[in-house]
Amino acid sequence: MIKEQRKAKAKAIAVKLAYVILLLLTYTLGYLVASYPSSSPYPPLSHTSAPSIVQLANLPNQLDHFRVTTHCADRPVQPGLVRQTILDRVFNSTSPYQDFPPPHVRGRLRPKRIKGWGSNGAVFENLIRKVKPRTIIEVGTFLGASAIHMANLTRQLGLQTQILCIDDFRGWPGFRDRFRDISMVNGDVLLLHQFMQNVVSVNFTDSVLPVPFSTGSVLDKLCEWGIFGDLIEVDAGHDFNSAWSDINRAYRILRPGGVLFGHDYFTAAADRGVKRAVTLFARVHNLKIRIDGQHWVMDPA
Ligand SMILES: *[C@@H]1O[C@H](CO)[C@@H](O)[C@H](O)[C@H]1NC(C)=O
Ligand SMILES: *[C@@H]1O[C@H](CO)[C@@H](O)[C@H](O)[C@H]1NC(C)=O
Ligand SMILES: *[C@@H]1O[C@H](CO)[C@@H](O)[C@H](O)[C@H]1NC(C)=O
Repeated sequence: MIKEQRKAKAKAIAVKLAYVILLLLTYTLGYLVASYPSSSPYPPLSHTSAPSIVQLANLPNQLDHFRVTTHCADRPVQPGLVRQTILDRVFNSTSPYQDFPPPHVRGRLRPKRIKGWGSNGAVFENLIRKVKPRTIIEVGTFLGASAIHMANLTRQLGLQTQILCIDDFRGWPGFRDRFRDISMVNGDVLLLHQFMQNVVSVNFTDSVLPVPFSTGSVLDKLCEWGIFGDLIEVDAGHDFNSAWSDINRAYRILRPGGVLFGHDYFTAAADRGVKRAVTLFARVHNLKIRIDGQHWVMDPA
């Protein structure tokens, strides 16, 4: 009996002691927090809700998502000089179509092998009629179906348009499972050559030029060189990070009043990230998205 009373008393003391310690700790903590310099550069953390993605994206240091350091040219290259600028900067001032095809791929190309997805949608004609572009930049070209379609439209409308096709022309790992007829020489898929052959086959070499490097690196370079697009189509990597990177970079080289648009807003592929990237970009920049067939279109702000 006495033993039990002692036990209970000890327990009561322990509990009281715990309260006192807790009180002291709380007080000390409160004191520390209060005495923290009020000029702290860190904004107070909200206990009720985490910052939204748009708030985060709008922080000045986050908006430049890729820490792009490229300084864009102050003066844009005149439309009539765009082709020559690319030839000079990328192709040692010689047309890549000169002496095409080279001996090692001769006989390995199909005379014409064009395959695309949504490449003939009405969106192309709608936008080309509206914008009357002198420079079109295509991000993601593959075999050139939509580039050739756009070149055809601009010619029919009597526009003098140069189309730059940005693509590394590697396809994607395993793409030859579906395109066995695209040859490979020592691991080098002949996608660039087949694309060029397609352009040759329709006699559009004067208006369609490949820029065969990764999309990010070319978009940054175009900015640096002062090459801006009146119409820019984004249709390269469909995962969120690729689409987000391409859209952010493409937007920097969109001529004021130009139109940025892209493929796969409403197809199964959109789920991989295109739609999320487009929606987030539009929210961050307060832009409106409209849909035209399978394409999203970002009209001038
Ligand atoms: C670039 O062009 C010049 C002049 O046509 C030529 O002499 C030179 O060999 C070319 N360089 C390369 C790397 O092809
Ligand atoms: C260009 O468009 C016309 C009219 O739609 C069509 O008949 C022709 O086949 C097209 N040419 C190419 C190379 O796509
Ligand atoms: C190819 O196009 C050029 C103009 O770009 C034209 O002068 C030439 O006649 C065309 N060739 C053929 C075979 O259609």
